[in-house]
Amino acid sequence: MLRSIDRLDDAGVYLISADTAIIQTIDFITPIVNDPYSFGQIAAANSISDVYTMGGRPVTAMNVVCFPSGEMDIDILKEILRGGLDKIHEAGAALMGGHSVNDPEMKYGLSVTGVVHPDKLITNSGTRIGDSLVLTKPLGTGVMSTALKNRLISEKEMKEALKSMTALNKIAAELMIEMGAHACTDITGFGLIGHASHLIQEGETGIEFDFSAITFFTGVMELSQKKVYPGGLGRNRDFCAPNVEFKGRIPEYKRNLLFDPQTSGGLLIALPPEKAAMMVEKLRKKQIIASIIGKVVKQAEHKITIR
Ligand code: CO
Ligand code: CO
Ligand code: CO
Repeated sequence: MLRSIDRLDDAGVYLISADTAIIQTIDFITPIVNDPYSFGQIAAANSISDVYTMGGRPVTAMNVVCFPSGEMDIDILKEILRGGLDKIHEAGAALMGGHSVNDPEMKYGLSVTGVVHPDKLITNSGTRIGDSLVLTKPLGTGVMSTALKNRLISEKEMKEALKSMTALNKIAAELMIEMGAHACTDITGFGLIGHASHLIQEGETGIEFDFSAITFFTGVMELSQKKVYPGGLGRNRDFCAPNVEFKGRIPEYKRNLLFDPQTSGGLLIALPPEKAAMMVEKLRKKQIIASIIGKVVKQAEHKITIR
């Protein structure tokens, strides 16, 4: 064994030979957009991401399906699975099968296996004081999908977030390996702050975020002012509150967005400042919205500070 579940890594890692470790992860979600093909893409990208965070290459995937058979048109399921399969292929992995159960609430995702050379493994526990933190997607998918569900925004206004959620973290992951990243995690259900706290090494490293450097989807700020929040946002905020300090005048509607649960969010990568700058430049050339949003500091009373 290389990394067990008690480390709060994004996936489990198991050494099978001197030069190969397998990475295993599973994730499945309820629909957050109306179009089944897009939902399939999002759910798959979301599941595969945990292999990328660990510096791995996805090799096989299995479908996990909960479907209300008899109540929902089977063509919807076919579209979801087609979306998932397209992402599996884009990731260079093979679909090996899957399992479905009858369930009143639709759910879909993947169990994914990846491989990595044990020396090349990237975990969430390698941060060093002075590292820059790069985030590779904008924030706000939870707020946007809640707004869509409540018909407060149109499908068209959802487009930007949809494009981001369906995008694999493949290019960002390949670049971070090339750049020699120290640590990585992806931003999903616990929001930026929740997942950032997994990068903190107890008693050693803390994190400082620069709020103005963080990118949000168009319209997210306005929706936050109207308190259009998914249920998970408040839970994330309450859970993280003791570890977080806001400095300066950042209004509450802005603060709240740092706790917004993300689906298929970006990678949060710790690497030396000069490498981080290079990485952001390369990602932007590929139309990927990445920025340096903070740095790793010596741990203070509050483990995470936002300025
Ligand atoms: Co993850
Ligand atoms: Co996960
Ligand atoms: Co089965």
